[in-house]
Amino acid sequence: MAGKIPQGFIDELLSRVDIVDVIDGRVPLKKAGKEYKACCPFHEERTPSFTVSPDKQFYHCFGCGVHGTAIGFLMEYEHMDFREAVENLAVRVGLELRAETSGPEVKQKSLDLLTIVDEVDQYYRYQLRKHPNADAAIRYLKARGVSGEIAADYGLGYAPDGWHNLLHSLGTESKRRQLLSVAGLLVKKEDGSFYDRFRNRIMFPIRDSRGRVVGFGGRVLGDDEPKYLNSPETPLFHKGAELYGLFKARGAIKEQQLAVVVEGYMDVVSLAQFGIHNTVATLGTATTRAHLERLFRYCPEVIFCFDGDRAGRDAAWRALETTLAVLRDGRQVGFLFLPDGQDPDSLVRAEGAPGFNERLRGSTPLPDYLLRSLRDQVDLTRLDGRARLIELATPLINQIPPGALRELLLDRLAELAQIQRTSLSMLAGGQPAVGAKSRRKTLKPSQPPMRKSLVRVALALLLQHPRLARIAGEVEALRPLNSVPGIDLLAEVVHTVTEHPGLSTAALLERFRGTEHAVHLEKLSIWDHMIPDEHVETEFRATLAKLKARLRDQQTRVLLDKSRSEPLNDQEKAQLRELLARGQT
Ligand code: UTP
Ligand code: MN
Repeated sequence: MAGKIPQGFIDELLSRVDIVDVIDGRVPLKKAGKEYKACCPFHEERTPSFTVSPDKQFYHCFGCGVHGTAIGFLMEYEHMDFREAVENLAVRVGLELRAETSGPEVKQKSLDLLTIVDEVDQYYRYQLRKHPNADAAIRYLKARGVSGEIAADYGLGYAPDGWHNLLHSLGTESKRRQLLSVAGLLVKKEDGSFYDRFRNRIMFPIRDSRGRVVGFGGRVLGDDEPKYLNSPETPLFHKGAELYGLFKARGAIKEQQLAVVVEGYMDVVSLAQFGIHNTVATLGTATTRAHLERLFRYCPEVIFCFDGDRAGRDAAWRALETTLAVLRDGRQVGFLFLPDGQDPDSLVRAEGAPGFNERLRGSTPLPDYLLRSLRDQVDLTRLDGRARLIELATPLINQIPPGALRELLLDRLAELAQIQRTSLSMLAGGQPAVGAKSRRKTLKPSQPPMRKSLVRVALALLLQHPRLARIAGEVEALRPLNSVPGIDLLAEVVHTVTEHPGLSTAALLERFRGTEHAVHLEKLSIWDHMIPDEHVETEFRATLAKLKARLRDQQTRVLLDKSRSEPLNDQEKAQLRELLARGQT
């Protein structure tokens, strides 16, 4: 994917964006004192506990605990990924992301790779229309019932027969050949020469979530092997992350709140031709967690559609195993098994969209599929058969994040195995049933209050009022306080604000996004330490002074300990005298 977004860009972006505008356009806000309020868009409520702070450039719901920056809001509310959210905001305030992305060299490289893949895409499409031998390809598509309109819509192309078509058309200079080979479209031989990877195939361009072509799948026109050839993994193309058709399907997936995952390129294309647009395909690989997380950003429900044969059932079980860990409450997964020998393409042609939709409605929910498959493997009339069922099911069920779904599944398992629910819980281990909440809820203010350690107070004050960094100059000197957890983080935050004066709370948090400290810092930035605004500065100074006193104690102790076993040198003596004198004032 394109380079990492430079932190300076995020700083600049968040200094121009006003989170109040960003949210108000989607969730109308009312002014309440220094802040703005609304009923929380992320949970049901009647009285507003969703608060937006223009000072911190941060939102926080006291009801359900959600919180974040303008970037975080778009990610949660509009289901954008980080980059999309940044781009969206950048357009809003007139910042150009592309010009500033990563170093000049890196940028050049990824741009060239994208550009050349785009050229190849156009080349293949052109060949499908103009190449003297393209009529075989067109005949093939026609015979399969692919309309010209849908072929154009999905950008289908044709890689002509022969080893050097692409090479001679687009690989006209060494740098281009090199790029085409990095993009996986030319193959380099041992003698250093190149040949076309795709020959005499119908080409399916694969787009990333921003619509840019990053790879291809190519199908033979007849029964040759391999039937499909795909682009290899390249800097642009990762099979475990991309989904065929997602760029086009996004709108429909959001609208219908459902994504259908099929196995084949042709399935996606045919379903679309029949008006079913919320479909994507994996790229000849198993479904990954990355695939699922991607889909769940757009909708709460995913239905896997597999062939009814043995291979399809195996693939479905593998998909189930991958899915369990991402099944937070509110997410649903179903399985649709097609009759043996059919795939979505053949089925929608035989039964039309209504038939296919009818089948989707009859798909098997994941919990039923899970328990049914396991039940079929054991003999429930036997005591040891029921024990076996528990043994098979619990490791799977325990992979589901704590929540209602997991508890309900354990209930059902207890019923099936005819065991007391409490006994099952003991056997199943895992986390306790009561009080288990989804991830989002773990930040509820009703959690046990945070202990008010000196470092926490200092960090919280600093995060909530970054201007305090001015008077925190000496925090560096506190670093030797290594017995105090968090001192390094405090120094790091001070350093960050000093280096980049004017950062808001939000911009500061964005700088720590993805680091091990992110969650802790977020919590501190919404922590209610009960210190009124007008006392913030005094309190901050006092906290630092206390930390300094601790450091003096620590240094005094070290020197005194040392003096007991060996004589101190002059410098150490002077230091100790000074420390003791200061300690008395
Ligand atoms: P299918 O054989 O089900 O594909 O394989 P399909 O799209 O239905 O094919 P046809 O054109 O109707 O016969 C499902 C997917 O598995 C991958 C491809 O991504 C394909 O779409 N695959 C299949 C390969 O990568 N290589 C192969 O040789 C076969
Ligand atoms: Mn097929």
